Amino acid sequence: MQFDVEIGTLSQWSGDGIIVTVFQDEPLSGAAAQVDHALGGEIQRALDNKEFSARYTLHFAFYSMGTLPAARVAVVGLGKRDKHKLDRARRAAADGVKDLRKLGAKRVALTVPAEGLDLAKAAQATAEGIVMGLFRFQKYFTAAADALWEDDFRNELESVTILVNDASQLETVRAAVERGRILGEANNFARTLANEPGNKMTPLLLAEQARAMADKNGLEFYVIDRDKAAELGMGAFLGVAQGSQNPPAMIVMRYWGDPSSKEGGVGLIGKGITFDSGGISLKPADGMENMKGDMSGGAATIAAMQAIAQLKPHVNVTGIVAAAENMPGGNAFKPGDILRAMNGMTIEINNTDAEGRLVLADAVAYATKELKLSPVLDAATLTGAIVVALGIYRTGVFSNDDELADTLYEIGERTGEKNWQMPMDEEYLLAIRSDWADLKNSGGRPGGAITGAWFIRQFVEKGAKWAHLDIAGAAGIGEAKERGYINKWGNGTPTRTFVEFVLQSANGKG
Ligand code: BES
Ligand code: MN
Ligand code: ZN
Repeated sequence: MQFDVEIGTLSQWSGDGIIVTVFQDEPLSGAAAQVDHALGGEIQRALDNKEFSARYTLHFAFYSMGTLPAARVAVVGLGKRDKHKLDRARRAAADGVKDLRKLGAKRVALTVPAEGLDLAKAAQATAEGIVMGLFRFQKYFTAAADALWEDDFRNELESVTILVNDASQLETVRAAVERGRILGEANNFARTLANEPGNKMTPLLLAEQARAMADKNGLEFYVIDRDKAAELGMGAFLGVAQGSQNPPAMIVMRYWGDPSSKEGGVGLIGKGITFDSGGISLKPADGMENMKGDMSGGAATIAAMQAIAQLKPHVNVTGIVAAAENMPGGNAFKPGDILRAMNGMTIEINNTDAEGRLVLADAVAYATKELKLSPVLDAATLTGAIVVALGIYRTGVFSNDDELADTLYEIGERTGEKNWQMPMDEEYLLAIRSDWADLKNSGGRPGGAITGAWFIRQFVEKGAKWAHLDIAGAAGIGEAKERGYINKWGNGTPTRTFVEFVLQSANGKG
């Protein structure tokens, strides 16, 4: 799909479809009023009759039957003007392009709903929404699917034209649309990796994908394999991996945007469990298939590194993905086993299903002790407990630095990947005290997301700033509905948060 930015008017644009955005509780104006005029006032009539309220998230589309040069029209409600924000522009654009695609359109146009917003930011959000909204994962559908199921899944848009009023806006909007495209495509890359089934996305296959991305985008790349991990003392990471026939991979991608700095810079870390069966502490069968997405944090990390390489901020960034498969087997680690992590701490295993924190323990230690990275963000589908606490609409943020947590909150309000800081009172740490080792890996059900975060925090080297993003709900790898630019399953969170954070760090605001 190609983006064009041109001067023009929706009512005069001839193509397959146009998207008209409408505010709630006010008469049509601007482009919407012009299109409505050509339609003989049908949209205004629908508003007057309360057949369409223009509430945010409501939308519909129809064929224009020769009334307009464009053959199809999508009308998208933006909600009330005083509540307009970037994420509404993002979602409106997604709903519009999806409606037109459903009607068979290939070439569509829209304007940026930038009312009250910064034009560049709104244009970027619009492009992000379009790219993400059009994402579908259907590489495993064959011709048999066409014969079996009645659906629109073959039609693809060829071009999206963003119309601006005058020449003074062209350059700003073109640059912003390009940024939005990069972010949207990175997000979709994360989705693709997460959607791949466990048999097609083992740790080594994930590493191969990351290597291809790194080679293409000029990033330094290496993999810490089983032998090298043993040499480094990564006993927690290796403990999780030992029950699987598929060897683990600690994937490292490095971007050197500030060669003058001797510091490694920002660290982005992702949990990369390519399938989480629970291990010997086996999960129940119902919903276990969702655990192919237990590498969603790792997918977002790889995808964010792609966008960072393309956007070229003036800062050093290292992405690390702790990739392993958690399986039961003759050689699997067991409840009662004691592992030694890279930082020397010993861990009693009381539940092999609390494996994410184990692979992250060594990744975080490697990042903060060996590579001396700070600040370090880790993203992980870590606990069912965070899904209970926050549901699917917000990521739980745990940090040793309140300012860092605040920054992530603010970024989330703009990217739509909403974050919420969770408490880390010392009392919660008691839950992971062990009778046999320094720590045990599961603190049980009460405050499960908090005790998980406390566990990871033990492996952060002194002085490093750290935040942990529990995305078990927000990454959308369970029951969820498609909504705007957010697809039904495996939505790519927190790819854009990671990228935004790095861009802000480069601007000295991080
Ligand atoms: N990958 C799961 C967490 C998860 C659950 C992610 C649901 C997405 C949806 C994680 O490895 C896990 O099994 N966590 C356990 C931890 C417990 C044993 C302390 C959990 O949440 O039950
Ligand atoms: Mn688990
Ligand atoms: Zn897991």
